[in-house]
Amino acid sequence: MIGVFDSGFGGLTILKELLKELPQYDYIYLGDNARAPYGSKSQAVIYNYTRQAVDFLFKQGCELIIIACNTSSAKALRKIQQEYLPANYPKRRVLGVVIPSAEAALETLQSSHKQKAKIKVGVIGTRATIEAKVYEQELGKLNQDLEIYSRSSPLLVPLVEEGWTQKPETRMILKKYLKPLKNKKINILILGCTHYPLLLADIKRIAGKSTKVINTPQAVAQKLKDYLARHPAIEKKIKKQRQRLFYTTDEPARFKNLGTKFLGYPILKAEKVEL
Ligand code: DGL
Repeated sequence: MIGVFDSGFGGLTILKELLKELPQYDYIYLGDNARAPYGSKSQAVIYNYTRQAVDFLFKQGCELIIIACNTSSAKALRKIQQEYLPANYPKRRVLGVVIPSAEAALETLQSSHKQKAKIKVGVIGTRATIEAKVYEQELGKLNQDLEIYSRSSPLLVPLVEEGWTQKPETRMILKKYLKPLKNKKINILILGCTHYPLLLADIKRIAGKSTKVINTPQAVAQKLKDYLARHPAIEKKIKKQRQRLFYTTDEPARFKNLGTKFLGYPILKAEKVEL
């Protein structure tokens, strides 16, 4: 099984792409809705919550977990990979969403950016993700010649959760967040948060034609496909019966309703769990 974890609903945007690109596998989704949002919490809390979620998913039989949450990927993933996994689950794997997005951003640039000027990359995300500077670190490892401008956009998650994706107020707030990045004439924009793909059309319109917006869920799905091709021993262990299970730490009825919007098809059953 492949586990997909997020602080709440947002990771369903990642699962949606995984189901399109890699439908053959079994998936378990876990949303920690009772304790979301993570984006304004401290590193210690985010690490603890993420570790509990990872533990739950491994106990359900996952061989591989995708931390779909940018905030958890930014604040907890490294410690989980370097300390928690070797001590507790040395044969299993946990991957995040930051590296795939950074790699996808650079691949896009290499194919489209011909001019000699420095490439300008914009990143938007939750406060915790932006403060962690993970995109700066990962992009910097791939290309030291970039100018990176990041901006936390904390109002967007609650607006998306309220279903306000088409409201003029949301567009106005988006414009305000994107303005300083637009002023810098960024070539690329990375959506460093699970919820932002639901605002993709408006983000693209506001960012303008000269900015390429990276579709994070697609990048994650493509990179997972490559990863599984390079790691056949892990790939073989993942069951391929197309089973989909959904767990939430809060009300299953709300999870099914709102989750359906994020996933794009009906979630018929969701179970409540305690982490
Ligand atoms: N899933 C989070 C992320 O991608 C957004 C929601 C939250 O703050 O928990 O950063």
